[in-house]
Amino acid sequence: MNSRSDVLVIGGGAIGLATAIELARQGTQVTVLSRNFQEAALHAAAGMLAPQAEGLEPGPMLDLCLRSRDLYPEWTSQLTELTGLETGYWPCGILAPAFADSSPRYTGDAKWCDRTTIHQHQPDLSPDIVGGWWFPQDAQVNNQQLAQVLLQAAQQLSITLEEGVSVTAFDTQDRQIQQVQTTAGPWQAQTYVLATGSWSQELLPIPVTPRKGQLFAVQTHTQSLRKVLFGPGTYIVPRQNGRIVVGATSEDVGFAAYNTPGGMQSLLAATIRLYPPLADYPLEGCWWGFRPATPDEWPILGHSPYENLILATGHYRNGILLTPVTARLIADLIVTGQADPCLADFSWQRFAPSSPSSEPFALAHS
Ligand code: GLY
Repeated sequence: MNSRSDVLVIGGGAIGLATAIELARQGTQVTVLSRNFQEAALHAAAGMLAPQAEGLEPGPMLDLCLRSRDLYPEWTSQLTELTGLETGYWPCGILAPAFADSSPRYTGDAKWCDRTTIHQHQPDLSPDIVGGWWFPQDAQVNNQQLAQVLLQAAQQLSITLEEGVSVTAFDTQDRQIQQVQTTAGPWQAQTYVLATGSWSQELLPIPVTPRKGQLFAVQTHTQSLRKVLFGPGTYIVPRQNGRIVVGATSEDVGFAAYNTPGGMQSLLAATIRLYPPLADYPLEGCWWGFRPATPDEWPILGHSPYENLILATGHYRNGILLTPVTARLIADLIVTGQADPCLADFSWQRFAPSSPSSEPFALAHS
């Protein structure tokens, strides 16, 4: 038996680490079990903070995303204060240029730029761009830097981080998790947090499935892009050091690994169509990852069928954006026992079978 913690977080990606950090800040003793840090969706992201550019419908999901975007300045500066490391948070705004056949779908405080304005606003866009939407409050964070900051913060807060440990099963009794079985033996805690993203179904039959994204990066020596471009089939995220990260495909291919010629061809074509100068920049590399998708594309947050298991998974395209608000909501739920009212909209129960069952999940490991 490994040592007990107050809270055992299963999953060492952005959501798991940030939740552990928030819990530790509130005085909780936390252990994080991470199967493979490099597999986390955190690495596959481009770091866009784009509730508006993503075109989310008004409602609970947009509200949650806006709340998290609003937390970013304070959350990242606290992390920097703690670790001395920069996250690359940059409120640079996002421009969504439109071709003649693009369908305008934005509401709220988006600003429409006509053809003349948008080409002045961002030189070298495709001549076929007829206008576009400007979202001055959308932003970006450097997800690779954020990964290092979260690891460093976890270390400074004395969080026990066990890398290379997989949870294989829950041992349950009377709607309680008694312990988890892992590749390093059993582990116990008072409360467990499931933050296993695309791999959540290995432990619980909740509808979270992988949605593959392929990305690439180029390196420039110019600063010609100073805002994120969000176009059909592509987004182009310039870092302040001249690197440009471009994403992403969205493929329902299970856990099929690797970059593929077909995926890269479609991404490159959409990107060069939108912003032709990118065709000539030195290609730095390409990679892929898996977004944890749910049927309605909203995360699954809060209580689970087990009284001492809290869910924080299924963040799909918005994991980096939703990290601060998820960490705060889940930590507050565990520490105070009070659920923020917004969690009701993200409950696992929206996917529960309508027939009542005496068992929480018929398929759950026990
Ligand atoms: N957040 C954008 C994506 O998942 O591709």
